[in-house]
Amino acid sequence: MATFPRFFVVSVVVFSCFGVTAYGALFSSIQKTLLLNSSPSQGQVLQAGEEQVTITWSLNKSYPTGTDSNYKIVKVKLCYAPVSQVDRGWRKSNDNLEKDKTCQFNVVTIPYKPSNNNFTWTIEKDVPTATYFIRAYVYDYAGEVVAYGQTTDAHKKTNLFKITAITGRHVTMDICAACFSAFSVVSLVGFYYAEKKMAKSTQQ
Ligand SMILES: *[C@@H]1O[C@H](CO)[C@@H](O)[C@H](O)[C@H]1NC(C)=O
Repeated sequence: MATFPRFFVVSVVVFSCFGVTAYGALFSSIQKTLLLNSSPSQGQVLQAGEEQVTITWSLNKSYPTGTDSNYKIVKVKLCYAPVSQVDRGWRKSNDNLEKDKTCQFNVVTIPYKPSNNNFTWTIEKDVPTATYFIRAYVYDYAGEVVAYGQTTDAHKKTNLFKITAITGRHVTMDICAACFSAFSVVSLVGFYYAEKKMAKSTQQ
């Protein structure tokens, strides 16, 4: 092996190891210190773009005082339940949070406080039909993920809810409505001029 390629290979290996240890926080290594609740009942079906989810959270007081001294930011996310991840690589869970695709929708990013947190989220229009739960990640002052909380249990079986996407029919109806309003404006203008012209010709 020539000097250059060997150096190159060694650098790649060194940097990728460094990359994994430095940036790949593992889900299994962060503490579940937040207690999180969401408004939908188990199995409830909600319409994207219309209905709302209220999320409340607080620090689990069973942890020793000072556990949250380095907590800075909370990021609340909407996450796919296992039933909606089957055969879908693009939604796959990964213990390395850099690669994890479980929680793809941001609900809110908000400064940390230990209690009295609640947020009402109108489900965004681009959320696809699936089964979901809510998870919140806690970031420290260095920007690292250090803790979390979630509305479901460790097996992601309880407190799951469903969201129904805005269907093609909704979109078609929106387009039709837009066309009709454009048409009505055009015809209004048309009638106005036709009438004006008629008035003019009757005057003459
Ligand atoms: C709070 O944390 C303790 C210690 O980890 C745990 O045993 C307990 O189940 C948690 N409480 C709730 C309501 O999850």
